[in-house]
Amino acid sequence: MTNESSRVFFALWPDDAVRAALAALAGEVARETGGRPPAQSNVHLTLAFLGEQPARRVDALLDLASSLGGTRFALSLDEIGCFRRSGVAWLGASAPQPDLLALQMDLALALRHDGFPVDERPYTPHLTLARRIRAPIHRNLTKPIVWAVSSFALVASELGGKAPTYRTLADWPLASS
Ligand code: 2AM
Repeated sequence: MTNESSRVFFALWPDDAVRAALAALAGEVARETGGRPPAQSNVHLTLAFLGEQPARRVDALLDLASSLGGTRFALSLDEIGCFRRSGVAWLGASAPQPDLLALQMDLALALRHDGFPVDERPYTPHLTLARRIRAPIHRNLTKPIVWAVSSFALVASELGGKAPTYRTLADWPLASS
C-alpha cells in the first residue's frame, strides 16, 4: 500500500455510442451558450463525489462498491438546463429515474455507513455538457438520449492540465433484471 491519495468519485461512464451522442450534444450546447464542452472521453454522470482520499480509503471504496447489488436500467435523458452560479450547462431527465435514484441512494447509504463524506443536498443527477457558459439555457430534447446503463465505476480525477484526466480505477457490472 502507498501513502498516495487520489481525488475520486463514483460515476456512470457511457459506452462509445452514447458517448458520441452526448459529445455531439455537448458541442451544440457549448455553441448555443458560449461555453466549453468537456473532452468527449470525459463525459460522465457522477453518482457521488468523494474528493481526496488516502489509498487505504480507496481500498475501502473498492470493497464497499463490490458489495452493492444493483440492476441494469435504461436512462432516458431529455432535459437541458444550467446552474447559473457555476456556469454549467447540463443534461438531465425531466421524468424521475427511479433506478438511477435507487442506485445512488444505495451507494450514498453505504458511503455514509463507512464514514465517507456524502453531499447532504438532494441528489440532482446531471451530466455536464458545457462549462463557463455565457448565456443560460433550458430546453427539452424531442428525442431523448437513451443510455442502457450496465455498470458503474470508481474514477480518479487528476487535475493540473487544461482538462482533468479521468482514470477508471474499477468498475462493477449491474445485474440483468
Ligand atoms: P460537475 O460535472 O457538475 O462539475 C469530478 O469532478 C465529477 O464530480 C464531476 O462530474 C463533478 O460534477 C462532480 N462533483 C460533484 N461535487 C463536486 C465537488 N464538490 N467538487 C468537484 N467535483 C464535484
